[in-house]
Amino acid sequence: MLKINNLTVKVLDKYILKNFNLEINEGEIHVLMGQNGAGKSTISKVIMRDDTYEVISGSIKYNDENLIDMSTTDIARKGIFLITQNPPEISGVTNAEMLRTSLTDMGKNDMNILEFNRKMTKICDKLNISNSFIHRDINYNMSGGEKKKNELLHMWMLEPKCIILDEIDSGLDVDSLKLVANSILDYYQEFKPSILIITHQKSLVDILKPNYVHILADKKIVKTGDYNLALSIFENGFRSSIMSESEANE
Ligand SMILES: Nc1ncnc2c1ncn2[C@@H]1O[C@H](COP(=O)(O)OP(=O)(O)O)[C@@H](O)[C@H]1O
Ligand SMILES: [Mg+2]
Repeated sequence: MLKINNLTVKVLDKYILKNFNLEINEGEIHVLMGQNGAGKSTISKVIMRDDTYEVISGSIKYNDENLIDMSTTDIARKGIFLITQNPPEISGVTNAEMLRTSLTDMGKNDMNILEFNRKMTKICDKLNISNSFIHRDINYNMSGGEKKKNELLHMWMLEPKCIILDEIDSGLDVDSLKLVANSILDYYQEFKPSILIITHQKSLVDILKPNYVHILADKKIVKTGDYNLALSIFENGFRSSIMSESEANE
């Protein structure tokens, strides 16, 4: 479904990714881990075609269409959805305005205003945020954790098929982290999207039970495993987790 092939990316004069490969099929959950500055957020933004990042070579295909030739708007229309590490504040545009406009644009707005508000209210209740969020400006004057929940409100309303979550756990208190993880799990069980999660949080990995865990280092994915690889990283750190078992035994 999402297939990244030999992707090489530069920002300013620095190579951030070199020959990066990743394939995510429908309904799979992948976790991407790596040290600070490894390029995790970069890959999430390159997928959405943030033009700060220069694609030197390679391809990013979604259902066989090359995203590199598309605008961010068109990529979003395909049902690809990113929650960035630091969601931007957009004053002057409310959640409801943006969501109704987006749903209409995607041909998915089959709700009248009452049904729309009822659906928003239900999601706000589940996310334990005030119903006043419906008419608040996007992420504006929200705390770090509230921004993450507000972005999840967008996800539940837009019903994307491919979701990228960049450190959704940052800024969340312990209770909120559990609530957010379970909300993502509920969404996964209902819609079976493809999910790429960038995280260092064990509790999130425990709840979401990924199919694959990848380590990003040296500008590409250097190791792929299952849940046990994440456990090894939590226990032993990245360096010893990257080494093969034979090397580790030397
Ligand atoms: N817009 C940018 N301008 C300059 N350097 C950037 C930019 N975005 C990312 N970088 C650099 O690219 C590297 C990878 O960043 P990032 O993808 O944010 O890492 P991670 O999310 O893995 O911590 C870092 O060295 C960072 O400083
Ligand atoms: Mg990052």
